[in-house]
Amino acid sequence: MLSKLKSTDRIHFQNSLLNWFKKNKRDLPWRKETHWYPVFLSEVMLQQTQVEQALPYYLKFMDRFPDIYSLSQATEQEVLTLWAGLGYYSRARNMLKAAQIIVTDYDARFPQDLKQALSIPGIGKYSASAILSIVFKKPYAVVDGNVYRVIARLFSISDDIRLNKTQKAIQDISDFLISTDNPGDYNEAIMELGAVICRKQNPECSICPVQSFCEAFKTNRQIQFPYKSAASPKRKANHYVCIIETNQKYLLVQRPASGLLASLWEFPVLEVKKINLSKKRIELILNDTYNLQGKVILKGDIFRHQYSHIDLAYQPVLMKSETENIKNLKSYIDSRWCVLNALTEIPIHNAHLKLIEWLKNLNQ
Ligand code: ADE
Ligand code: SF4
Repeated sequence: MLSKLKSTDRIHFQNSLLNWFKKNKRDLPWRKETHWYPVFLSEVMLQQTQVEQALPYYLKFMDRFPDIYSLSQATEQEVLTLWAGLGYYSRARNMLKAAQIIVTDYDARFPQDLKQALSIPGIGKYSASAILSIVFKKPYAVVDGNVYRVIARLFSISDDIRLNKTQKAIQDISDFLISTDNPGDYNEAIMELGAVICRKQNPECSICPVQSFCEAFKTNRQIQFPYKSAASPKRKANHYVCIIETNQKYLLVQRPASGLLASLWEFPVLEVKKINLSKKRIELILNDTYNLQGKVILKGDIFRHQYSHIDLAYQPVLMKSETENIKNLKSYIDSRWCVLNALTEIPIHNAHLKLIEWLKNLNQ
């Protein structure tokens, strides 16, 4: 593969991409910054999230934690609360640990050495390359989902993108293609190209700055690349979500400190084989499981949520309790009764956050 690439082509390719980026780059707030901290914050958010979705969170975090010192002094619950809705919460926990380590071990400066950068919690090859290239002009090529797609199309790579060896080949090509004069812009440009032009569906080849280099375009096979083998099926699970109200307060419980959605808050759930229980059964099981008394008032619509290893179906049930007395919470580590408006003060995970909107609509 690399034998096909010539250095003269490389310079032409870099110039086409960089000129396009210069004229067309999106106006994003972290692109105006020269300090490493905003770049670090944005790249951690952009690991598994698209720009549009990350943007309001970036602004909230910069407002609340404008520098590494303020972030390093936050509690985990504060960081998770501000992160709530963005998903993949280990990113938030790691970001806090990273801030603490950078302040204490690195004199509040992001390490410029790749090995040291990779030792920071939550910083893998992708984020380290992004931060070190954008902030310190280090020539490390970023490879993310967008870059896999662009490179697989440019070089008509038909190997399974899930395989390490395919990923390694794409990393090697990227390491070759990167501009050493301008590695940060190069990395942002190729990610941006994947996000706005070389999209998964309907790539806009007619306005693509690197069309003349593209093998997939030549043979009109853009949509065939990259090839990704089917994922192994996820475990399916069903949860009743018990939204228990008394005196206009709702019961929230905190999940265990490890495992899925660690330390996040939710409405108490009952795991069941099938979502087909009568109201009486739900009340009985709730009582048996948590020693909680509640009468089912209303069932909401079932909705699904995909986690990395589980496909979860949630059946919301609105319940009424006579007392605030909680006797047994099983593996939950804490609980509290909250009025609706106070639910933004604790970190509730995405799936159950949706139910707060549902409750607000019901109460109108
Ligand atoms: N995705 C992740 N980081 C990015 C960046 N800096 N620019 C564009 N897309 C990105
Ligand atoms: Fe992607 Fe089309 Fe550009 Fe090729 S020509 S890189 S497929 S947008």
